[in-house]
Amino acid sequence: MISRLIPNTLIYLFNYIKYKILYNNSRVSPRSFLYGVKLEKNNVICGGNYMHNCRVGSHTYISGNDGGGIVSGYHNVVIGRYCSLSNNIEIITASSHNKNFVSVFPFYSMPHSFCFDKKKSREFTKINPVRVGHDVWIGSRAVILGGVGIGSGSIVGAGSVVTKDVAPYSIVAGAPAKVIGHRFSPEIIEKLLKIEWWNWTEERIKEKMPLISGGKVEEFIKKNEK
Ligand SMILES: CC(C)(COP(=O)(O)OP(=O)(O)OC[C@H]1O[C@@H](n2cnc3c(N)ncnc32)[C@H](O)[C@@H]1OP(=O)(O)O)[C@@H](O)C(=O)NCCC(=O)NCCS
Repeated sequence: MISRLIPNTLIYLFNYIKYKILYNNSRVSPRSFLYGVKLEKNNVICGGNYMHNCRVGSHTYISGNDGGGIVSGYHNVVIGRYCSLSNNIEIITASSHNKNFVSVFPFYSMPHSFCFDKKKSREFTKINPVRVGHDVWIGSRAVILGGVGIGSGSIVGAGSVVTKDVAPYSIVAGAPAKVIGHRFSPEIIEKLLKIEWWNWTEERIKEKMPLISGGKVEEFIKKNEK
């Protein structure tokens, strides 16, 4: 018990100091593991997330994840600004097993295998990174597969498995995720995508807050159209 507690406390302390130095304008839980991660600013990363090779836009928050491990979590992902990512989301950009071989078991790649040989290892196929736009809300326990693009303003329902691109401002749900609605009409979506409020200064966003959060979208567009 004590022998387990000491290394865990040391890792916690190490992460606490590392994240304070690297991400001093964001709040990152020492219970998360971040490698090669760039946080733009004012982000919140709750505990239990495993993030590798990711870029996260300002103010985006990622809720807690009780998965951990090598393939769960966030890998090779670019996430935009002001996104709300709920708990236990998994973005699977780890490589895939080769489905055309007689066996899908990675004989040459597993260090414990009697055939382990790194030079012959061709069992895994490369998977493309995932891109998440701005102002996206992803529900709890959603799974996003590699190579998928999730458009700005869209919503991914809880427990969905996203296998294809998600258009901006659409609402998708289910496994595989299908479009169940759109947040606004095509004309309004086009205008919102031109306005790109997420690229405004914080001062300007604050000034327009009564319209951004709670106001009528038509009025917001009328007052901010380019
Ligand atoms: C995606 C979501 C926003 C849709 O809300 P909505 O637009 O009000 O949709 P509705 O509730 O009217 O449902 C529309 C249809 O989609 C289905 N649906 C909704 N959410 C679904 C989901 N997550 N998975 C599968 N189907 C779903 C409904 O059953 C309904 O089907 P029907 O037309 O056959 O009856 C919501 O259901 C959801 O999943 N929210 C995420 C909640 C969450 O994870 N919160 C975490 C804390 S932030």
